[in-house]
Formats: sequence, structure tokens, C-alpha cells
Amino acid sequence: METQIAALRIKALAAIAEASDAHALKESRVRFLGKTGSISLLSEGMRHLSKEERPVMGKLLNELRSAVTASLDEKESALTAQSDAAAFAAIDATLPGTAPEVGSLHPLTLLVDRAVQIFRRLGFAIADGPDIETEWHCFDALNTPADHPARNEQDTFYLPDGRLLRTHTSSIQIRTMVNHPPPIRIIAPGAAYRRDEVDATHLAQFTQMEGLAIAPGISLADLKGTLEFFFQELFGFGTEIRFRPHFFPFTEPSYEIDLCTEARGGKWMELAGCGMVDPAVLAEVSRQRGDEAYDPEKVSGFAFGFGLDRLAMNLTGVSDIRMFTENDLRFLSRFCPL
Ligand code: PHE
Repeated sequence: METQIAALRIKALAAIAEASDAHALKESRVRFLGKTGSISLLSEGMRHLSKEERPVMGKLLNELRSAVTASLDEKESALTAQSDAAAFAAIDATLPGTAPEVGSLHPLTLLVDRAVQIFRRLGFAIADGPDIETEWHCFDALNTPADHPARNEQDTFYLPDGRLLRTHTSSIQIRTMVNHPPPIRIIAPGAAYRRDEVDATHLAQFTQMEGLAIAPGISLADLKGTLEFFFQELFGFGTEIRFRPHFFPFTEPSYEIDLCTEARGGKWMELAGCGMVDPAVLAEVSRQRGDEAYDPEKVSGFAFGFGLDRLAMNLTGVSDIRMFTENDLRFLSRFCPL
């Protein structure tokens, strides 16, 4: 048996030395050290040995096993070092690298930032409210009766508990007045939702910017001056604005604002809704607050709201509103600060 062990040792070490890659080395490992490998088979012969011979052979077999294991491990690290070196040799560290892609802000974010900057100069603060609203904040408090079409289930996303995805950011007017006494001057950019068929000019979720100013003695002239300043800052001083009488339940009188720039070939474009806050809204807010802070006899104010997606389309010349939500990098990467 001793000769068998010696012969196996020579055979195993030679095979390991010859293994030229990881795969061949693995095969050798199985062949000599595996459960049914040569060393195990040889160990089985121990059964036929005498009591005196057994420990001697056992020791020799153990030595063989450690020698083969050590040789396999050593060869494995040599092969790994070899393949690592080959991989590194294939890399030219002097080649120019891949430039990291630099992200940019979404065109709507850029527009919101710019609009906020302009209104800040006029002393407006930013207000916020939840996208999931109560009917009271979205409609009742805004003097919008139960039979108004905006409340129709076909036009609005209702949740099973009766709340809804706000159809406009005007609900933030109510939340601000309920929580803060006048004077207030806020803008509120945010998402609004309607059951609109999605096409080149409509989305079921769009972005609005709400505005509200309440204080003693605020007049229609303040509203006109504020919005004229804003749109001229945004579109340039050649911009003309007109106020066209309209109806909103929560403002009286109400207007739609149209804008005309030379860049648009002198064509009027509808931009925003606005008006003087309806006394009925102030009265409902007072009822909710349980105080006289918003007594329509003492304070007055204006409100406005416009769609930022439409505005962004006009400023950037994008003709399909869906591009703003499709996250196509070829489109988004074209925008630098407006
Ligand atoms: N909330 C109105 C809309 O979504 C816009 C508006 C806001 C009108 C504030 C008047 C005052 O169409």
C-alpha cells in the first residue's frame, strides 16, 4: 500500500502541475480529493490491514491528502494571478474614460423655479396641500354647488371614502385661509387631476400654480398689476395681457387671462383663471375658523390659477404635452434653465 500511496502522490502532483486553467484544476480536485476520488478509494483498502499497519498507513494517507490539497490551492492562486494579469494587460489606462452623464432638471421644474422666483420678489410665500382632498376643500368651501359639473364622477377621480384627487390647486386657498389669519400672500404649485382623455394638449394629471392674496383693501388693480408683472417677467416686456370676463364659482368678478407675444405671431393664448375672492368663500372660511378674521366686510383679496404644462409648452415650443411625462431622455436632455 505504501508504494500505491507514493505512486498516487507522484501522479496527483504531476496532474496538478499540468492543469492549465481553472476548469482543469477543478477536475483534478474532484479526481483526487472527491468522495469517490483516488485517495478515498485507496483509504478503503485500510479495512484489510492489520491493527499495527493501520495507523501507519492512515498517517501516510493524511499526508498525501494534505500535500495534494496544498498543491491544488497553490496552483489555484497561481492561475488566478495569471488570469488577473492578463485582464489588466488588456486595459489601456491611458485611454480617455467614459464621461459620466450629467442630469438636468425637468422643464416643468425649471418653470416652477422661475415662477417662484418672480412671485417671491412680490412677497409671495409658498403654500402646500394634499393631492387627495376632501370634497369640502375642493368644492363646497369654494362655493361650488353639488350640481356643478366639476363634481361629476365622470370628470373627477373619487376614492371609495368620498375623498378625491384634487381637480385644481384652489383647495390650497382654503387650507391656507383656515390655518392662517390675513394678511396672506401665497403661491402654490402642485398637481391637479381630471378624467381627461389624454391627447397632445390634455393629461389626466397636470401641474397648476395657484395664487392668493388677502388683506384689507385689496382690489382688482392689485390683481392686474401682479399678473401683468409676472407674465412680462416670464415672457418679456413686449408681452400683452388681456382680462376677459369669465365665471368661476369662487371668484367674483372672474376673468380669464389671455396673452399675446410677438413670438407667437400676435395670436392670443388662454393662460389662466383669476378673480376677486367671492365673499361666499370668505364667509365659509370664517364659519370653519369660528372667528371674524376673514369677515368679507373687513378683508378682500384676489386669486389666480394657471396651468404650468401649457405655459411650459409655449415657452419651449413643445407641441405635445405628453412629452413632459414620457421621461424620454432625448427630450429631457435638451433643456437647460429657461
Ligand atoms: N381653479 C381654476 C381652474 O382650475 C382656476 C382659478 C384659480 C380661477 C383661482 C380663479 C381663481 O380652472
